[in-house]
Amino acid sequence: MEKKWWNDSVVYQIYPRSFQDSNNDGIGDLLGIIKRLDYLTDLGIDVIWLSPVYQSPNDDNGYDISDYQAISPDFGTMDDLEELIEESAKRGIKILMDLVVNHTSDEHYWFKEALKSKDNPYRDYYIWRDPLENGETPNELLSVFSGSAWELDEKSNQYYLHLYSKKQPDLNWENPKVRKEIYDMMNFWLKKGIGGFRMDVIDTIGKVPDELITTNGPKLHEYIKEMNRATFGQYDVLTVGETWGATPEIAKLYSDPARNELSMVFQFEHIGLDQIPGKPKWDTKELDFIGLKTVFSKWQNELGDKGWNSLFWNNHDIPRIVSNWGDDSPEYRVVSAKMFATFLHLLKGTPYIFQGEEIGLTNTPVTSIEEIDDIETINLYNERISEGYSNDDIFSSINKKGRDNSRRPMQWDNSNNAGFTEAEPWLALNPDYKKYNVLNDQKSETSIFTYYKNLIHLRKENELVVYGQYKELLPEDKQLYVYERYYAGETWLVVLNFYKKETTYIDEKARKGTIIISNYGDSSNNLSKLNLRSFESIVFKINEHK
Ligand code: NOJ
Repeated sequence: MEKKWWNDSVVYQIYPRSFQDSNNDGIGDLLGIIKRLDYLTDLGIDVIWLSPVYQSPNDDNGYDISDYQAISPDFGTMDDLEELIEESAKRGIKILMDLVVNHTSDEHYWFKEALKSKDNPYRDYYIWRDPLENGETPNELLSVFSGSAWELDEKSNQYYLHLYSKKQPDLNWENPKVRKEIYDMMNFWLKKGIGGFRMDVIDTIGKVPDELITTNGPKLHEYIKEMNRATFGQYDVLTVGETWGATPEIAKLYSDPARNELSMVFQFEHIGLDQIPGKPKWDTKELDFIGLKTVFSKWQNELGDKGWNSLFWNNHDIPRIVSNWGDDSPEYRVVSAKMFATFLHLLKGTPYIFQGEEIGLTNTPVTSIEEIDDIETINLYNERISEGYSNDDIFSSINKKGRDNSRRPMQWDNSNNAGFTEAEPWLALNPDYKKYNVLNDQKSETSIFTYYKNLIHLRKENELVVYGQYKELLPEDKQLYVYERYYAGETWLVVLNFYKKETTYIDEKARKGTIIISNYGDSSNNLSKLNLRSFESIVFKINEHK
């Protein structure tokens, strides 16, 4: 496989609303990000994925766009964005824009026109269907954000499709004019020198609503190929598709370089492993650890040189991993956060760090609906109340899976509002910011931040981490995840205790190896039996050649 610049890159996701406020209106903004670029340089990342900063009524915090070519005044101006691209470039950092083209906002000009009449030229930019004879919705398609995916426009007595909120009408990709508008818009951004696109729910653009097909529709790859030809195919950029239900086979369709589609996929198979199969994400169970090993090994083994994957634990839709699958108590927060990081950053693929993950930020439990901002969570709450769930049940789901958990303001220091803003923040901070913040972490040699820096450095310095083969050992072990990476005659062994309970590991090779990194700092391998403490993780270079 031809090597690409993004093979050894590390991406950092910024949720702009919560990163850094520069004008004290309580909302993070572009100038705030610029102010923190040196921090990101210190961390060592190469790419920033910027969650949407476009004009938006914020029904879904920017994922409902009313003008793709204008910056939301909450975040600043187009000049600020250009400055961000420039200032980032000076530091060798590229900006990945979020491309949200499954839907627009209902306040987008196209939709406002479409609402005017059935024969408006923009009507066919969206997906309309007549009611059934009894007046009901055209079919039983559900919105990801609860309830039917169809909303009635009373004036024309037709339903429009919205896979997300009713303020996010789905675009009609069958219409070549829609596709052309989108490609023109993408070229507008590419000409500004961006580093590429993160493509929001791109797997849904080929939907066939009448057949209840939402993802992986028959024309999906035809559209992506066309998009590639019409836009980013001419540029050396990174394109990453958010593809919830991809399998390795599907991932190869997107990311096999010979097919001229995308650089990589961003798939979530591991994320669902604490959910009850067939139920909504809110119905959780204990993490299926053997399942986790099976899933990661499958992805590591099956893509070969015909595909590329993203590696992540967190993003703005997923709660904090250290709280959910690690242990965020004062005793284990640091070691468990480092263990999860070790696991991920030693795998093949492109690692993504979500803001605050690098200092081990935790979930923020809430007890009342007034504390919640996220539309998905609010809709879930209302739905479950109407279905008779108890408040306790609902909040237990929300505190485990709600998206606000990862969206709270960044914790820079222990001053008021953590240095995020001097005003009232748009969403309350996690009160633990007095203890857990960037300032403390940057000063410490043993902090999570310093550990992330070291992991990023390892990737930069060792092709084995980027391109090496993967081999899992002990697939049946219920507590240890052990794998090897090997490349050009060198082998590394990664031993991770995923749990608080101590355990042992016997491996003659490890005993003779040298320790490259470990999350306790004082790990030792001079015994034939390794004693692994709570969440201990050790990476060895072993003296064996493959
Ligand atoms: C996926 C995004 O990551 C999420 O935040 C958003 O709500 C939906 N797509 C709809 O755009």
